[in-house]
Formats: sequence, C-alpha cells, structure tokens
Amino acid sequence: MSGPNTDYDPVEVTPLKAAEVEAVRDAALVAIEAAGSLDELRQVRLDHAGDRSPLALANREIGALPPQARKEAGQRVGQARGAVAKALAARQVVLEEEHEARILVDEAVDVTLPWDRIPTGARHPVTMLSERIADVFVAMGWEVAEGPLVEAEWLNFDALNLGPDHPARTMQDTFWMEPVENAIVLRTHTSPVQARTMLTREPPIYIVCPGRVFRTDEYDATHSPVFHQVEGLVVDEGITMAHLKGSLDHFATSMFGEGITTRFRPSYFPFTEPSAEVDLACFVCRGVDSEHCRTCKGEGWIEWGGCGVVNPRVLVACGVDPDRYTGFAFGMGIDRTLMFRHGVADLRDVFEGDVRFTAAFGTEI
Ligand code: PHE
Repeated sequence: MSGPNTDYDPVEVTPLKAAEVEAVRDAALVAIEAAGSLDELRQVRLDHAGDRSPLALANREIGALPPQARKEAGQRVGQARGAVAKALAARQVVLEEEHEARILVDEAVDVTLPWDRIPTGARHPVTMLSERIADVFVAMGWEVAEGPLVEAEWLNFDALNLGPDHPARTMQDTFWMEPVENAIVLRTHTSPVQARTMLTREPPIYIVCPGRVFRTDEYDATHSPVFHQVEGLVVDEGITMAHLKGSLDHFATSMFGEGITTRFRPSYFPFTEPSAEVDLACFVCRGVDSEHCRTCKGEGWIEWGGCGVVNPRVLVACGVDPDRYTGFAFGMGIDRTLMFRHGVADLRDVFEGDVRFTAAFGTEI
C-alpha cells in the first residue's frame, strides 16, 4: 500500500537545491545584462523565464515535494523568478530607451538645410560661346550646319584638295578608325561640313558650323586632342575676298565690341586660294600701349583662325560649277576664342569639367 513519501529529502532533488537555483538565477541575470538589443532580450526571456526555462521547470517540481519541504523550495524558486522578472523589466526599459535614442539620431532630418538650392545644371561655356557665335551669323541670314564627328577620309581630306600624298596632311595628325583600310577618321577640322553641304545642296550657300574636332595632339595648357572649331562657308555668284573680310569684321565686332576688326596675313591652306591667317585686333588694349597687354602680349593683334577664297578644285570635287560660283571659307578655334575672350590661362580647365570653372562664367548651377 502506498502512502505519502515522508522520507522525501528535498536536498536530493537537483533542480531545487539552493546552489542550483542560485546558479540558474545568476546565469539568467548575466544573460539579461548581456542582451544588447530588444531582439536579444526577447530570446533571453524565452530561455530564462519562458515555460521551458530551468526556473519554470523547478517551479513545477515544487508540487511534488513533501509538504514540509514545499515552503522553503517555493520561496527560493519564487525569489529567483522574481529577481529574473525584475531584471528583465529593468533591462527592457534601458534597451527601449537606447533604441529610441538611436532612431532619433539615425533618422534625424536637418530641417535647417537649404531645401530650395537644388543645382539645376547649366550649359558649358564652350556650348554657350558656340551658340553665341552661331547667333551672329544666323542674324545675317546664314544657316547652322552640322556633320558627323566620325568622317570619311575622302570628305576630311581628298574633297578639300588634300590628296593622299599632300604634305599638308601632316599638318593635321589624324586619329584613324580601325580597320584603317576602311578610310574612316575622327574629323580633324570642321571643313568636311563644307564638302557635305556643297555635295547635297545648290548654291547660294551661307552656313556656319560649330563642332568638335580631333587631332593627335599632346594634352597641355594650349593643346587638346579634342577641341572645337567654327567653320563658315559661303558659295554664291560674285563672292570675293572683300565679302570674307566684311563678314569676319562683322563677326569680330559683334563678339568683341565696336571698332574691333580683323587683319589678314598671307598663308596657305589646300582648300582655299588665296588663303590668309585672320588676326583679331586686341580688344583689351586696342593696339594702344600694347607692350603691357597680357591678352595680346605686345602684338596689338591676336591670332584667331584661317580663311580664304574656296579653291576651285574643291568646288569641282563637290559638284559646284566654278565658272558660275565663287566662295569663301573660314575656320576658328572656339576654345581658343573662349580662352582669350575670358582670360583662361590653361586649356585643360575648359575640358576637365570642374563646376567651379563653369560657375565663374556666371552660369546657373
Ligand atoms: N580647316 C582649317 C584648319 O583646321 C581652318 C580653315 C577653314 C582654313 C576654312 C581656311 C578655311 O586649320
């Protein structure tokens, strides 16, 4: 016959031994302190205060103890569970505060930042100058013409009276597209647009063509393998060198002010005959006390570009009747014009894309 287990010795029940309860409680307290986030604390709560935690299991054992042992064991386990619950609640408060403080920092919005200063961007000074130049000619009734940057060798050279062995080809060091047999180049000047226009249109022709050109030049303060030119071409009946001079003087005055004209110096280009170098009267010193002028360096004149009367051989190559029509052409460096017009000392500043350079032109950024 069975009866109450009066011999039951609670000291023998491992989970309820004082030392064991203390060890379990201490382990829980250490884990609670070590929890670094609310997620970690959630796990610690499950492990040390959940239904399957050692203290919960110990609590369940109490009922199985003999009555005289229950009180003491109950107190011991109850105190341990109370201590763990208190520690959990305290740690929860601390971690919640930390969490909120972190959100305040991480998600902070500086309401004093200037919201209305969004840089809108602006066109590059070279683009703006190109358009300004084109406007001068459009105002005289000329048209703006364009051509491809990747050009047929024939249009870049042959049509312009630069045959395969023409020594002037070496004046323009050329980038060739692979394979070289295809005879395709990066255009070395804007003059192929002349040829393209004459081949596709009947005179009268009055065109201005700003654009990008390429030569195998070293990149330094005054040279770049990529730069910009503006080409002008007129083909009509009775066109003479005088029309060329008048057009360039008007161009110079429109760009640099009243009284600023041009002078011609004899030169050579295969596509024009006669040919001339165009100089611009120095718009800073106007030839007075030019010795101290930093823009023209004592010359009173600034080298501006090349020009001439269109060579009849070019007219023939491009299908224009040289007995009926004559023409003139000119070509200027746009970057060079920008440099002396605005006192830019280093050409690389024009190409490097630093917004501080652009901003100095008063463009909107
Ligand atoms: N194409 C010439 C150059 O690049 C410039 C030029 C154009 C000269 C038209 C005369 C006439 O050097």
